[in-house]
Parts: sequence; structure tokens; C-alpha cells
Amino acid sequence: MARIIVALALLGGAAAQLTIDAVNPKVVEAEYAVRGKILDRAGEIERDMAENPDKWPFKEIVRCNIGNPQALGQAPPAFARAVLSQVVLPKSKGSKQVKERADAYRAALRGGVGAYSDSQGVSLVREEVAKFISDRDGYPASPADIFLTDGASAGVRHLTQLLVSGPQDGVLAPAPQYPLYSATTTLFDGTLGSYYLDEAADWAAPVQELKKAYDDVVEKGATPKLLVIINPGNPTGASLPRASLEAIVRFVEERPGLVLAADEVYQENVYGDAPPFISFKKIVRDLDSKIPLVSFHSISKGFTGECGLRGGYFELTNIDTAVKAQLTKLASVSLCSNTMGQVAVGLMVNPPTSGPELKAYEKEKKEKLASLERRANKVAAALDALEGVSCVRPQGAMYLFPSITLPDAAVKAAKRSSMAPDAFYALRLLEGTGLVTVPGSGFGQKNGTWHFRTTFLPAEKQIDNVVQKLAGFHESFLAKYGGGGEL
Ligand SMILES: Cc1ncc(COP(=O)(O)O)c(C=O)c1O
Repeated sequence: MARIIVALALLGGAAAQLTIDAVNPKVVEAEYAVRGKILDRAGEIERDMAENPDKWPFKEIVRCNIGNPQALGQAPPAFARAVLSQVVLPKSKGSKQVKERADAYRAALRGGVGAYSDSQGVSLVREEVAKFISDRDGYPASPADIFLTDGASAGVRHLTQLLVSGPQDGVLAPAPQYPLYSATTTLFDGTLGSYYLDEAADWAAPVQELKKAYDDVVEKGATPKLLVIINPGNPTGASLPRASLEAIVRFVEERPGLVLAADEVYQENVYGDAPPFISFKKIVRDLDSKIPLVSFHSISKGFTGECGLRGGYFELTNIDTAVKAQLTKLASVSLCSNTMGQVAVGLMVNPPTSGPELKAYEKEKKEKLASLERRANKVAAALDALEGVSCVRPQGAMYLFPSITLPDAAVKAAKRSSMAPDAFYALRLLEGTGLVTVPGSGFGQKNGTWHFRTTFLPAEKQIDNVVQKLAGFHESFLAKYGGGGEL
């Protein structure tokens, strides 16, 4: 007995020896605000609500912090799920078209979804992606230049790892920015340069800002290697016009050694009279440009919303074969991306082509996108109408990023709590309404401005309630802190 106790004590001691000091400091330093402190607090509140349901002035936590449509009630894509079911379980029911597609994927998977695929991904799906791209852009695309990935995030990580190995390597990313890019740059110890998007011009990406960020990184002693453009934007929702895309390509052309990373995961999410989506691949080909380009797409967004299946791809344009071989090696180290996600990519880019399946698919797509647009406009108009809040009209993606003018007393109260003022606002919003948003400081923003990001993804029947909660909270926040008095 005594021996067992001694052994357990030793084991306990060994576990305690792994302290935070031993952790890679770059992991500790990296920040990812969309799943940060506000979400942690939401989890705490949710657990408390289970035991003390009457303690909180709301009945549920609504997660508007992340573009995760199915978590907020969006139905999965019907045809894609029918085919996926048959790929996994060939005996399940399905139409002739469903069966044919499932049979083709199963044959291509050689051993089914439980077998590793090639490192770059199943060739049938890469062929489907290449056809989708060439139909979209009017220029050829090759399956050999496509890599299937566990969502766009995994592709971004591969590309960053390929190019960034220390502070001498720079990454230029927008501010505000989806923090995948700052986090990945930190993880690989690179130097981040931020170019500021212009809120007064629908969150445009001005070339003079790109130049400033480029020069800043050079001044810090680093070589800018990667320019990240998110179009349509997250968190801004901006859809960049053609002239802007062309100017960006020219900017890269003038700076040999810079690779353009085009994050185009929201290409299906463009609303109203916003500039239509045009891929950087098309612009590069239209201009007969030779700039190296890596373009990302994902099944997580659009109207597919299959975030949890983790599927995506990137396409290489004007990339040397020796460089491509290194990317293939990186993909090989993880063996392959998950096979269900690969099939889901094929189904996103190659939807049903005929019959009732096509009709149902078109209806589903139209309705989901129209609903997203209605919700975007409704939440944006309601926010814009609030005192001290200004919201750029929604153009694309799944987010609104209103700027908020916070009363001095609120800024002081935030300081006393050692919080950024917009984090203080987002925390009070959560604790008063159950709505989870992300403070603008998690994305980067111009000094002295405050924002928060919210998705407009809650279901249509819930959205009026969300809008009312936002407005009610904002008014009470102003009433509490706005009179100039410090509370
Ligand atoms: C701009 C942007 N890029 C990439 C991603 C990651 O997407 P995935 O789920 O494909 O990894 C997101 C997710 O929200 C995003 O907003």
C-alpha cells in the first residue's frame, strides 16, 4: 500500500513538472480572439444557468462570435448530405443521381472514407475543383495545382510554415483581420505588418496602406513574403471592386518575392448591389501577371456552412514546381486531409446537374442566400440607428463590424477592469443579453476607434429578438455610462 502511495506521489510530481514555462513561447503569445475570453465567460454563464436559471436576465446564450451557421440552426446542404451518407453507408437510401455520385467517390477513395487518400487529396475531387475554377474564371485550372485541406485554416498554416521561419520573414495582413493570420504568423515567429482598411470607404484596401505596411516590415528588418487579402472580408464584410483587385496585383508585381494569399472563403456571400466577387486567379490571368498566388476556399461558409466537416482547398498559380514539392511534403507530414471533408468539397464545387435534385438545390441555395442578405440588412440597419453606433452597409461574408463611440465613463470603467473598452462593452452585452460577440480589439483596428463583430447568423425567427436585445442593451449602457458621470 505504502509503495502504491509513493508511486502515485511520484507520478503526481512528474505531471506537475510540465509547467507553462516549458511551453513554446510562441504558442503562449499567439492570440485568437474569436474564441477568446468573452466565449469563455459565455461557457461559465451557461454552466451557471443550468443550476441557477433565474439568476440571468435571458434564457439562452446566442453565439454570434463565429461564422458557424449550422450551430445557429441553418440546415445542412441536402444533396451533399445524401451523397455523403451513401459514401459512408452504401446501403442507405438515395436517388439514382445520389447513388452514382456516391459510387464515384467511393471508387476514387480506394478503400472508402476510412482509408488515407493521397497527400494532396483524392484526384476525383481535385478534378471537380479544377473544373469549378475554370468554369468560374474562364481560364484553365489543373488538378495538379489543387491541395485539399482540413478547412482553409490548415492550408493557411501550410503556406505560412512554408514561407515563415523567423522574425526575418514578414506577413502583411489587414487590420481589422480574421486573427488566423496574426496567430499563425506568431506561431511561426514571423513579423506581422498590418495594413489598415478604410472604414469610410466601405472598408476598402487602399494601396498606400499596403505600401506603408510593406515599408514598416522592411524597416523592422524583415522581408515581406506574404500579402494576405481576405475578399469578401472578415470581419468587415467588404467585397472589393475589380479596380482594387487589379491595383493589389500590380502592387505585388512591383515587389518580387512577395506571394499573394487570397482568402476567398466568402466568395458565395456577396449581397445586394455590392461589387460582385471576382477571384484573384481571374485578375492575375486577365492581366497576364506572373505573380505567385495561393487562393483559398472552404466548405465552411457560402450557403454550405459545413464548418465541422473541415473541408477546403487551395490552388497554386505561378508557383515553381520545386516550391510545390515542399508544400506536398508538408501535406504528406499530416498524411492527408479528412476524407469526408474532401468529398464535401467535391459536392460544394460540383452540385447536382439535373432532375429534381438540381431544382431542390437551386431553391435551397437561393433561399439560404436571400435569408442571409435579409438578416444582414436588418441587423445593420438596427445597429446603424443606435446613438453612437455606425455600421458600414453589409456587402458580403457573415459579419457586421460596427464602430461604437463609448462614453468616457465606460472607457474609465474598462481601464479599472484592465480591459479594452470594446471588450468591456462586449462583456457587458454578454452578461446583459446572452449575446456573444467579439471585441474589435481582437481583430486590430485604428487607434482610438472601438468596434465589435457580430454575425447575422441567428435564425430568421430569432433575428428580431437579437436586434431588440442589442438595441435595448446599448440604450441601457449609454444610460448608465453616458451622462458623463463615472460609475
Ligand atoms: C476569412 C476566413 N478565412 C478562413 C477561415 C477558416 O475557415 P475553415 O473553416 O475553412 O478553416 C475563416 C473562418 O471563419 C474565415 O473567416
